[in-house]
Amino acid sequence: MIVATSKSAALPLTLMELPSRALEPDEIRVSVRSIAVNPVDWKMRRGGPLRLAHRFIGPSGPLVVGVDFAGEISEIGPRVQAFAVGTRVVGATDFARKQLGSYASEVVVKEDQLAALPESLSFDDAACLPVAGATAHQALIDFAHVDQKPGASVLILGASGGVGLCTIQLARKFGAKAVGVCSTTNVALVESLGAKAIDYTRGDALAAARSHGPYDLVLHAVGTLTYPLAACRALLKPDGTVALVVQRVADYFALATSRNVRGSLGRARSPVLEVLVAAAAAREITPIIEATFPLGSAELAHERSSAGKVVGKLLLHPSLGSGTIGEIVK
Ligand SMILES: NC(=O)c1ccc[n+]([C@@H]2O[C@H](COP(=O)([O-])OP(=O)(O)OC[C@H]3O[C@@H](n4cnc5c(N)ncnc54)[C@H](OP(=O)(O)O)[C@@H]3O)[C@@H](O)[C@H]2O)c1
Repeated sequence: MIVATSKSAALPLTLMELPSRALEPDEIRVSVRSIAVNPVDWKMRRGGPLRLAHRFIGPSGPLVVGVDFAGEISEIGPRVQAFAVGTRVVGATDFARKQLGSYASEVVVKEDQLAALPESLSFDDAACLPVAGATAHQALIDFAHVDQKPGASVLILGASGGVGLCTIQLARKFGAKAVGVCSTTNVALVESLGAKAIDYTRGDALAAARSHGPYDLVLHAVGTLTYPLAACRALLKPDGTVALVVQRVADYFALATSRNVRGSLGRARSPVLEVLVAAAAAREITPIIEATFPLGSAELAHERSSAGKVVGKLLLHPSLGSGTIGEIVK
C-alpha cells in the first residue's frame, strides 16, 4: 500500500510503499477512495501531546497521519459480521488501536469504526463527516442535549471551518437556532445554511452575539486562543455548555472544575457515523469541499489547512497519484 508519511516535523510528507499486513480475525481492510484533512493531521506532525501519545500508544514504524476516510471494503476477517467485501463505507482510523493513519491507499480498522454508505452519497461527501461530524455531534447532543430542548440556541465560533459548517447544519437538523461567527467573505455561506452570521472583522463578535443569546451551547471551534473562556461562559443559559475543541493550558482549571466547560473529542464510532451518514444522505448536512489534492500533494493541503482559512474541508485522493499545486482538482 502507498502511504504519506513524514520522518520528522521538519520534513515534508512523502509517499512511500509499505507492505500490506495480514488481517486479524476481527479486522476489515478498506480500499481508500477519499480522505479528508483535519488540523490534527498537521498538528500531529509538529509534536506536542498528540505526537507524544502517538509515540507511546500508537503503532510503530513511520508516522502515517490522517483519520477520516471513505472507500470500499476489500477484505474482511473471519469474525466480521456487520460488513461484506464490496460495501462502500466511511470511517476513522484510531492510533490508540495501533492503526496507521488514513493518508493511504488502504486502511485496516474494526467494525465499530465504520458506517455503510448509501449509493446516493459520494465518497468525497462521506469522507468529510467523521472527525468534524463527531465533534459537532458530541457538542450538540452529548454536551448540550439540543435534541431534547425545543428552540435551543447555539453559538459557533469558527462557523466556516470543517467543524463549524457541520455544527450549523446538525444544529438546524435538530431544530436549534444557530448563530455563527466568521469573517466577511463567509457571511453569505453561513447564512445560506440557516444560521445568523456575525462578522468578526467588524467589531467585538461576542458583544454582537449577546443580543442573539443566551445560548445552550457555545462551541469554540477556532484553533487559536481567540475568544476568552470567561466571555464565552457569560453568554450561556444557566444550564448551558462551552465546548472547547482545543484545550488550552489557560483553560485547564475551568475544564477540571466547571460543569459547563467541556473539552471536545471528535472520536467517530459507528453509531454517530450512522447518524451523520443518514443526515448527509437526506441532504440535512451538505459537506462543503474547498479543494481536492492528490495524496502525493498532502504537504500542500497541510500548508493550506495550517493557515487557518479553509472553508469546509480539503480532500486527498490516493487515485490521483503524486502532483503539484497546479494539479488541484476543484
Ligand atoms: N478536540 C477534537 O476532537 C477536535 C476535533 C476537530 C477539530 N478540532 C480542532 O478544532 C479547530 C477547528 O477545526 P476545523 O477542522 O473546523 O478547522 P478549519 O476548518 O481549519 O477552520 C478554519 C476556519 O476557522 C475560521 N476562523 C479563523 N479565525 C477565526 C476567528 N477569529 N473567528 C471565527 N472563525 C475563525 C476561518 O474562517 P474565516 O476565514 O472566516 O476567518 C476558517 O473557515 C482546529 O484547531 C482543530 O484541531 C479538535
